[in-house]
Amino acid sequence: MRHRGLSARIGSRCQRRPVTRHLGSTPPSLDAREMAANAASNANERVYMAPPKQMVLISATAAGGPDVLVPVTGPVPSPGPDEVLIRVEAAGVNRPDVLQRKGLYPPPPGASPIIGLEVAGEVVELGPGAAGFGVGDRVCALTNGGGYAEYCTVPAPQCLRWPQGCDAIAAAALPETYFTVWANLFQLGRLSSGERTLVHGGTSGIGVTAIQLAREFGATAYATAGTAEKCAACLALGATAAINYREQEFADEIQALTDGRGVDVVLDMVGAPYAERNLWCLAFGGRLVLIAFLGGAKVSQLDLTQVMTKRLTITGSTMRPRSKSEKGSIAAALSERVWPVLDAGRCGPRIHAVFPLAQAADAHRLMEEGSHIGKIVLRVA
Ligand SMILES: NC(=O)c1ccc[n+]([C@@H]2O[C@H](COP(=O)([O-])OP(=O)(O)OC[C@H]3O[C@@H](n4cnc5c(N)ncnc54)[C@H](OP(=O)(O)O)[C@@H]3O)[C@@H](O)[C@H]2O)c1
Repeated sequence: MRHRGLSARIGSRCQRRPVTRHLGSTPPSLDAREMAANAASNANERVYMAPPKQMVLISATAAGGPDVLVPVTGPVPSPGPDEVLIRVEAAGVNRPDVLQRKGLYPPPPGASPIIGLEVAGEVVELGPGAAGFGVGDRVCALTNGGGYAEYCTVPAPQCLRWPQGCDAIAAAALPETYFTVWANLFQLGRLSSGERTLVHGGTSGIGVTAIQLAREFGATAYATAGTAEKCAACLALGATAAINYREQEFADEIQALTDGRGVDVVLDMVGAPYAERNLWCLAFGGRLVLIAFLGGAKVSQLDLTQVMTKRLTITGSTMRPRSKSEKGSIAAALSERVWPVLDAGRCGPRIHAVFPLAQAADAHRLMEEGSHIGKIVLRVA
């Protein structure tokens, strides 16, 4: 689709500050927003067009199955204080998007009702006080919502530059899992070099990132997954062992793999059915980090004795309700510690499938079917 503001980028796909040239003619009259955008562009000696007023977005017409996701036209959002407006080139699909579509994960107050927690694209407008990035910068961002759209506003502190060698699809596949894994496996779980971790859902978007970062930061990663193909993928990503939980008892396998010592951190997204076995898997001083309850949250009979005898920590967190400053401090840590690893190509997203934005429903069907390994991404531009 072409609309006012469409522009052509000149230079490599991954240059940080690409030169941009407008393809269309100047509109006859400019509103205040357009004049401000053009003034900012002129100051930077680049030619940028103001964003259009309307965009294509994916609307969830009601809570329900994938078919409720339909492309519609709606207004382009304006960046508020400390926000940037991103012309979205790609948007990641995440399991929480499925929950939001079903009406089980409402957006926090003030967040866009449009589904979509991560995007990659070009900054096209700065809100008052927005710092750190300029118009024309290519960023990937953890959004507060609104990613399944041609334009999305994001607090500037939640943006990161595209790692070297990443295109829009790869960059859009990073924020949600890298923010989540850093905050949970490394910050809450305190995984450190020389330690061992068990990553459940090893081929989920989260699992792929957790295995790679654990390996990169000197830890030994074990993973669980539901098929032989998924287990092979875990090994290829750097897991020392992968356990097919449908065929093997993962707690017994972990005891055998660690000579009875156990692991230091379990990163779990399954919940109740794994609760007691996760405690069995932990070494003395171990940490259980809960990030989801795909198998349920309520445990009827859990023997907590091991928490005392092994001095265990049970913790967990959610990402979306965190404040802008919390997300910004995670972004800063990622920029310093993890983005150099991505720049060097030592880890990165595993892209399973890419769909056009208009086929968001198909992307959700694939995610719910559950055979994917790594990330599902929407191509927006
Ligand atoms: N707390 C947070 O801050 C946070 C942030 C982001 C995501 N999350 C959560 O982390 C989890 C992974 O997210 P993602 O986007 O990486 O998801 P994903 O790619 O769809 O992966 C989920 C995987 O979990 C495995 N699984 C195990 N038990 C399952 C069950 N009962 N139902 C469905 N899948 C099951 C499946 O692989 P197998 O075939 O191997 O079973 C599935 O592929 C989600 O639950 C998500 O809500 C939490």
